[in-house]
Amino acid sequence: MEIAELMKQAEAAAETAYAPYSRFRVGAALLCRDGSVITGCNVENRSYGLTICAERNAIAKAVSFGKQDFAMLALYCADSDVPVPPCGACRQVLSEFVSADFPIHYRGTNEKTVVTTMTDLLPFDSLKDLKNR
Ligand code: THU
Repeated sequence: MEIAELMKQAEAAAETAYAPYSRFRVGAALLCRDGSVITGCNVENRSYGLTICAERNAIAKAVSFGKQDFAMLALYCADSDVPVPPCGACRQVLSEFVSADFPIHYRGTNEKTVVTTMTDLLPFDSLKDLKNR
């Protein structure tokens, strides 16, 4: 699947965001190695810290559908002109399932897409070191 198509699915997912507090809608689309796509949006809560980001929502959905092998992530912020990368918590959760060279594409409304990798976003992943022993 092309990244443009995956990003379209991230855009559609952002439309379903529940973000009444921040009014910052985010959508994630996770391409699985079996060719399927699992999307996620952010789900906020009146107790702000309970908010779930779009990326972690997509990972949790995928795992609960029996999918743990991922090829690529597209992330779209509907309420930012500039691209917004995954937060620290999402970087760690992603790193549980993907390899260092896993590609992550993110963009806002201004069309500029940033392409990066898991290891660029989380260079020293001690959890992964432990997991691979
Ligand atoms: N958010 C995401 O869903 N993913 C990101 O990568 C950045 C932040 C959400 C969390 C919260 O609902 C809102 O955006 C504002 O931080």
